[in-house]
Amino acid sequence: MENLYKIPEHVAVIMDGNGRWARRRGLPRVYGHREGAKRVEELIEVSRDIGIKWLSVFAFSTENWGRPKEEVDAIMSLLVEYINKKVPYLIENNIRLRFMGRIEQLPDMIKRSVEEGEKATQHCDGMNFVVALNYSGKAEIIDAVNKALKSGITELSEEDFRRFLYIPEMPDPDLLIRTSGEERISNFMLWQTAYTEFYFTETLWPDFDRDEFLRALYEYQSRERRFGKVLSI
Ligand code: FPP
Repeated sequence: MENLYKIPEHVAVIMDGNGRWARRRGLPRVYGHREGAKRVEELIEVSRDIGIKWLSVFAFSTENWGRPKEEVDAIMSLLVEYINKKVPYLIENNIRLRFMGRIEQLPDMIKRSVEEGEKATQHCDGMNFVVALNYSGKAEIIDAVNKALKSGITELSEEDFRRFLYIPEMPDPDLLIRTSGEERISNFMLWQTAYTEFYFTETLWPDFDRDEFLRALYEYQSRERRFGKVLSI
């Protein structure tokens, strides 16, 4: 029975399959991203309702710049539109919006929205919604090492290292969900997922609704996490 109440503190999501969802309907890929953004809203609502404290989503990787320019522009516009529209809701629901990645390299238009969104919600402490943008796990580790070197540190423990990550106070994900049948980490939070439970589903991201999310959470609740130790024989 106790498993019923095992709510993960941090859920991370790789939202995959938007392009395929659109293509199957004979639509341009951007329609898939648009529909995918609606599922992000539902994810936030469910997380808030059941008490998940950290929700993080992989919105744009450093490798995604290699996509056709129209698609990159469409994703960037969608993100700006989404952030601007969502901030009042986030404030109302006491949810802090945060970003992680090489934000300084983003176009000015999106950088402004990112900064405004973070500032407007910085007092919110009910839940954290983290958007990984121009993010890669290897880049985060390299950036952390360079920050540490610049600060004059010559030797680091794991806990020292954590202080140099993009969001030092963010707990490691308990559960990572990836949609669309791909079973890879694809450079997402390499440091933080050492003991994360992975949940893979064939469902394409635009079809990953509330029920699908709850299914992933039930599955998580049934898993026994040992962190390399023996808990029961
Ligand atoms: C992966 O599908 C999806 C992305 C690279 C973009 C994700 C962006 C959104 C859902 C936009 C909204 C985001 C927020 C935070 C509101 P894919 O294009 O790789 O799909 P495919 O593998 O089928 O081609």
